[in-house]
Amino acid sequence: MSAHGDPIPMSARRADPLSGVAEVPGDKSISHRALILGALSVGETRITGLLEGQDVLDTARAMRAFGADVAHLGPGEWVVNGVGVGGFAEPADVIDCGNSGTGVRLIMGAMASSPITATFTGDASLRARPMGRVTEPLALFGAAAYGRAGGRLPMTVVGAAEPVPVRYAVPVPSAQVKSAVLLAGLNAPGETVVIEREATRDHTERMLAGFGAAVHVEQTGEGRVIVLTGQPELRPQTIAVPRDPSSAAFPVCAALIVEGSDVLVPGIGLNPTRAGLFTTLIEMGADLSYENPREEGGEPVADLRARFSPAMKGIEVPPERAPSMIDEYPILAVVAAFAEGVTLMPGIGELRVKESDRIAAMAAGLRACGAMVEEGADWMAVTGRGPGGLPGGATCATHLDHRIAMSFLCAGMAAQHPVTVDDCTPIATSFPVFEPLMEGLGARFARAEA
Ligand code: S3P
Repeated sequence: MSAHGDPIPMSARRADPLSGVAEVPGDKSISHRALILGALSVGETRITGLLEGQDVLDTARAMRAFGADVAHLGPGEWVVNGVGVGGFAEPADVIDCGNSGTGVRLIMGAMASSPITATFTGDASLRARPMGRVTEPLALFGAAAYGRAGGRLPMTVVGAAEPVPVRYAVPVPSAQVKSAVLLAGLNAPGETVVIEREATRDHTERMLAGFGAAVHVEQTGEGRVIVLTGQPELRPQTIAVPRDPSSAAFPVCAALIVEGSDVLVPGIGLNPTRAGLFTTLIEMGADLSYENPREEGGEPVADLRARFSPAMKGIEVPPERAPSMIDEYPILAVVAAFAEGVTLMPGIGELRVKESDRIAAMAAGLRACGAMVEEGADWMAVTGRGPGGLPGGATCATHLDHRIAMSFLCAGMAAQHPVTVDDCTPIATSFPVFEPLMEGLGARFARAEA
């Protein structure tokens, strides 16, 4: 099955040294939030650098369905004329969020404290993912949700006519759950309090403050406590979306494992809640540096320079770092397969409920490529084969998961024999220019018939 029609297999063969500048697209998390908060403010929000991946385009379409005017002016350039907090209209049809857990969970939060009803669905991957983690806190506001067994999509959310503010300790480290609660809190009178034991990406808090909401964050014994005062008048903003560190991870890691490579990946958002992969790679001995550090659009940004790193060693990744690199474990597992020794990744149970079960998908594909992988409920360990040492020569199942597809294509760029992914179409959800961008650096990809 593919995201859009028939699956398209793609293979990657060993590349010559990678070189050049990799301009990766805008940050997916920030792009979703810019559209949603733009839709919840009155007046014109201007966005540049928006990721035009399918996930974000689905959120743009959803915002139109809730009554916002969303216009595409040019590449990455969008204008949203919002309806204000509490101003969402009831959509006339089902909201299809495609492959995007972030899209559906944040939009459910944004509509749950308004007196409207909306039905949500998505592709086969999204319909298999748990929504109870969001609908349970939304019920505390007074919303009701009716979905399939196990809290799966399709699901209808009946928004609260008279929402009450809530105090909620997020039971799993999830920025999507935190953000859904904060967005619902926007239309509840009084203070909504969200507590997270471990800090997750904080783009929602930062952007809410930027739009003029009163939002205060305090570190306490309980964890990170976020207090939002409800029913603000959000002021439209001009937002420059930084480039996505989760997309930058692919050209960076490919450069580390392909012999002779030297690649510059400019303008990458390095919010500390997102940059855990780069810290980990440096600890493994990667030749990776931050150049020209600066601030853009309220987020720390730098140019990443990555060179072939034959001396990388396996490490134990601190479990408390997991939230800051949660989407990067698949590509880290690939790098680990080309390092010396064991890379142990504990505290990653959340990977089992992403676009696919990413622990199972990486373990199966890497084993098929000749790596030694062990896994448990919430951990994975990869024993590396050293630089250029992974045999490859396998076809890996991607399970409608863009990051699994891109990770195995990067593996093929450095393995002894080509690596094939059964379907490259999901890559368009987050990194639509992955193929030409990587080929521009020197990747050798080939599309095949299914
Ligand atoms: C995201 C949060 C993370 C991450 C996802 C994007 C976000 O999910 O995996 O790709 O933008 O809030 P969880 O909140 O489920 O950890």
